Amino acid sequence: MRLAENVVIFCLTIAVAALSLNNDNPTASTRRRLHDSPRHRQHLESDSGGVRRRQAAAAGNDTGHTQIYCHNETQPPIYFTSQPDTGGPGLYILNADPVEHGAVNGTIYFLSESDHDFVPYLWTVIGGAVFVVPCPTFEGRLVRGDVTDFDGQKHMLGTWTELAWNVNGTAWGDVSLLEGNDGPVIMQALDGTEGGKYKGFSIDVLSNAPAGAEGGNSVAKAWETQLLDPNSVYLEDDINPVINSNNGRFSVTFFAGIV
Ligand SMILES: *[C@@H]1O[C@H](CO)[C@@H](O)[C@H](O)[C@H]1NC(C)=O
Ligand SMILES: *[C@@H]1O[C@H](CO)[C@@H](O)[C@H](O)[C@H]1NC(C)=O
Ligand SMILES: *[C@@H]1O[C@H](CO)[C@@H](O)[C@H](O)[C@H]1NC(C)=O
Ligand SMILES: *[C@@H]1O[C@H](CO)[C@@H](O)[C@H](O)[C@H]1NC(C)=O
Repeated sequence: MRLAENVVIFCLTIAVAALSLNNDNPTASTRRRLHDSPRHRQHLESDSGGVRRRQAAAAGNDTGHTQIYCHNETQPPIYFTSQPDTGGPGLYILNADPVEHGAVNGTIYFLSESDHDFVPYLWTVIGGAVFVVPCPTFEGRLVRGDVTDFDGQKHMLGTWTELAWNVNGTAWGDVSLLEGNDGPVIMQALDGTEGGKYKGFSIDVLSNAPAGAEGGNSVAKAWETQLLDPNSVYLEDDINPVINSNNGRFSVTFFAGIV
């Protein structure tokens, strides 16, 4: 059963990856436009608690909620390799980006907790796929990165896959471009929902971005809104494209992007 589920995910991953790679011939400078805006960075420095607000809103105003952190920022990030999948809550991270970013034999991925923006909680290098079980109260983001993420500074730009687990083992997630865009991500709830439950996007919106599109400015937003559905990706603060997973299990697939 689980094997079949994973095979389906992989087939989907490869099919969508093939599609998203077709028109992938950007210049580096064009690609960076949506990624590297100091103005956007400033806007975001104060906003990583946004995941909590958005998840709480989606869950019906859990306003008394207090985050229980998994990791103390005085400690270095914890390296992990793929963990055994025993069927409980957890996360498959699938790297469908053919380019290695920031590591030999793969790309570096980070899980960072909301409002703990200086030091990531977990990190790994992924060539293909890993399964990870974060601590039961994890709330934060999964992002693609490189060695600069270890420098004790904030690194807020990029596509965020936001994830939050409840103590009863259920979970919420979404794909957000509010903080930048470093490439497409698809997330799926692996809770057996008929027909599947997905959020995110798989098309390349960086390569042909118009002049003047930077970070989350109005040109970038207008461009992303033309190409992407705000019910699938966080583009606006007031639309909540969030999915839950009744068993706390998700897969997240990263397609060709930048670091
Ligand atoms: C959540 O709270 C905000 C402000 O406190 C309110 O405007 C909004 O209607 C509430 N939403 C729900 C779903 O109760
Ligand atoms: C984090 O660790 C430091 C140093 O060990 C300690 O002083 C601090 O109280 C810890 N913070 C939390 C929130 O546990
Ligand atoms: C990369 O993969 C090759 C082939 O599997 C292996 O021999 C090598 O040790 C790996 N390098 C690192 C740094 O993991
Ligand atoms: C699990 O906890 C969340 C958050 O408190 C709650 O919204 C949800 O209804 C609970 N689900 C179950 C199945 O108990």
